[in-house]
Amino acid sequence: MKKSLRTSVLAMRDMLGIEERCQKSTLIKEMLFGLNEFHSSSNILFYVATKSEVQTEDMIRQAIKQGKRALVPITDAENKRLLISELHDFDLELEKGAYGILEPTKIYQRLVPLDEVEMIIVPGVVFDLHGHRIGYGGGYYDRMLESIGQNKGTKACLIGVCFECQLVDTIPIEKHDMPVSRIITEERVIMWRRDI
Ligand SMILES: Nc1ncnc2c1ncn2[C@@H]1O[C@H](COP(=O)(O)OP(=O)(O)O)[C@@H](O)[C@H]1O
Ligand SMILES: [Mg+2]
Repeated sequence: MKKSLRTSVLAMRDMLGIEERCQKSTLIKEMLFGLNEFHSSSNILFYVATKSEVQTEDMIRQAIKQGKRALVPITDAENKRLLISELHDFDLELEKGAYGILEPTKIYQRLVPLDEVEMIIVPGVVFDLHGHRIGYGGGYYDRMLESIGQNKGTKACLIGVCFECQLVDTIPIEKHDMPVSRIITEERVIMWRRDI
């Protein structure tokens, strides 16, 4: 069920043309940059988009320009974990790592502990209206988000970003699936769990 939903929504996302994807990604960026929580966060973990995902390059560049501390993941495929690294220059510091995703090369890795992160922009293949998500199937974000909220020292605002075509009413979730507290699409910001 999860698998078939993942496959069918990915196919829909892949059908968006490049131009449409860029336009929608710009709208998502503008909504993100308009959020109060965004203004009050200095340490923001973005993801570096791959394939037909919501594009994040402009978000990262703009955040750096605004003086934010822009953080990006480094994939530790062996342990199925994400490390977090501070990025200073989008043009200079990235190269393809695991799964072909851009990540900081060794000399530009500046590791940052998760408890310093105030906001996490969470990618996903499918989201539902309760904030549940399906990823590519590696469980990477679930493992990282596990310690947020429960571990009282770590409290970051989790923002899922996706296109409208990736939203469904309900996702069949498992115990380890970690929900987000906001979802931004090209049309709206969906908010709940206002406590977070
Ligand atoms: N916190 C976790 N600890 C250990 N294993 C996990 C954790 N989160 C997910 N996993 C494992 O990772 C695999 C993929 O998780 P899944 O939720 O299906 O992927 P995704 O969230 O990428 O769609 C599953 O086998 C799941 O048991
Ligand atoms: Mg999951």
